[in-house]
Amino acid sequence: MSIAVDKVTFAAGNTLIVNGISLTVEKGKVLGLLGPNGSGKSSLLRLICRLRKVRSGIIRLGGNDIAAIPRGDIARRIALVEQQATTETQVTVIDVVRLGRTPHRGPLSAWSARDDAVVLDALGRVGMQGRAAQFWQTLSGGERQRVHIARALAQTPSELLLDEPTNHLDIQHQLDILGLVSKLDVTCIIALHDLNLAAMFCDSLAVLQEGEVVAAGAPEDVLTEELIGRVFGVRAHVQKSLVHGRCNIQYMTG
Ligand SMILES: Nc1ncnc2c1ncn2[C@@H]1O[C@H](COP(=O)(O)OP(=O)(O)OP(=O)(O)O)[C@@H](O)[C@H]1O
Ligand SMILES: [Mg+2]
Repeated sequence: MSIAVDKVTFAAGNTLIVNGISLTVEKGKVLGLLGPNGSGKSSLLRLICRLRKVRSGIIRLGGNDIAAIPRGDIARRIALVEQQATTETQVTVIDVVRLGRTPHRGPLSAWSARDDAVVLDALGRVGMQGRAAQFWQTLSGGERQRVHIARALAQTPSELLLDEPTNHLDIQHQLDILGLVSKLDVTCIIALHDLNLAAMFCDSLAVLQEGEVVAAGAPEDVLTEELIGRVFGVRAHVQKSLVHGRCNIQYMTG
């Protein structure tokens, strides 16, 4: 389903953290959410999955106001992988991924063959099938990140929100995970710091600064040298790729 954020505001006390944000993601497309530290990316993702309540404005999934969607439906359809996701320590990798099935199961319903198949498929997609029995606490940072992504995939969501999913990942797994996510038939918002990865894998981008959207659109239109200088305070050289119409960014120091 599509995601539409309409003039959304969120505040902690008197501090405005999300200040009148509007953006849309078409069904099955990937939106990259960019912006400096503290610009409101994680806060916006939490609002979209209703972990936080908007102060004003409306968030719609497939045209329906999320405030009117029952909590159980939200839990089944939206998966969020948080920036610093943790989990209980005394559990195995497969137990963590099985948690993704929780919203789909009633209190008395037995674990099904389909649940098993979905969990194993999710583990395989992130390349962690060989680690099913390993304890969570013994995993490396990147392995933990991949297991949390598998848990989100096991939820079989229609909307997937990923908060800096490439944190801790080596370059191969960064490319693998973003390649995987961009091919899923799921509406996706990914908060990212790597502008080149955002240009490679996202259908569109929104750039946040101090809780507001300061640029939005196709990656090659958004990622200009002027914007990178103005928002991130960095001099950059942006080269348009002739092959796929995207762009490549080189940063300059001094
Ligand atoms: N409950 C809160 N009380 C006070 N300030 C808050 C609260 N929640 C978030 N903030 C502030 O709101 C701002 C936006 O935070 P947020 O986590 O959304 O940023 P972000 O864009 O995800 O940053 P990063 O790139 O560092 O992850 C930050 O300055 C943060 O300190
Ligand atoms: Mg964040």
